[in-house]
Amino acid sequence: MEIPIGGYKLREWRSGDEAALVKHADNRNIWINLRDQFPHPYTMADAEDWVRLNRNRDLVTNFAIATGEEAIGSVGLLLPAHVHRHSAEVGYWLAEPYWGRGITTAALKAMADYAFNTLGLARLYAAHFAWNPASGRVMQKAGFTYESRLRSAAVKDGKTTDELLYALVRPETAQKDERARSP
Ligand SMILES: CC(C)(COP(=O)(O)OP(=O)(O)OC[C@H]1O[C@@H](n2cnc3c(N)ncnc32)[C@H](O)[C@@H]1OP(=O)(O)O)[C@@H](O)C(=O)NCCC(=O)NCCS
Repeated sequence: MEIPIGGYKLREWRSGDEAALVKHADNRNIWINLRDQFPHPYTMADAEDWVRLNRNRDLVTNFAIATGEEAIGSVGLLLPAHVHRHSAEVGYWLAEPYWGRGITTAALKAMADYAFNTLGLARLYAAHFAWNPASGRVMQKAGFTYESRLRSAAVKDGKTTDELLYALVRPETAQKDERARSP
């Protein structure tokens, strides 16, 4: 599956992406803004694990952001369950040499379209650390609404930080009664 985003694309992760993944993901400026599950240093073994986990999946939830030549970032969904089954947390990162060109904003818009129209989700959300306003700006530009400040919500690199929560709700499904869709 490929989704064009300007001169770039979202596509599935595949064997052969590992070297580019290490080249771009092994970056403290990326790691400092992500959950601790994102490794640092980012090794070839980490890249192999990520590609193995994500390639050839029936349900694609993690896309590579890619040029024609290589993967340069990632946008993915964490699918919840139970009463939250219509919403998903979205995460993203981009290789530092490509920052500031609107690529992640385009990737996030494409992911929202995929999440709402292909996966049938109703809500996407993400929270960024207080020291990372660029991520909030990406969400604003992608149409997300600021919802709240989660005070002292996270600890990263030994520092406690607030998180700023943004969400995008598919308008036609907001507040809809699920039973109305049952036969
Ligand atoms: C945050 C990140 C995804 C942005 O990607 P990007 O492709 O550069 O984003 P875009 O170019 O689409 O938009 C960035 C916006 O942030 C703005 N921005 C950059 N630094 C900023 C800062 N310190 N304060 C406020 N806005 C800032 C840019 O000016 C731009 O807005 P504009 O178009 O209105 O000028 C990228 O820097 C990254 O991968 N960071 C590390 C991982 C990360 O933070 N992931 C998100 C975790 S919640």
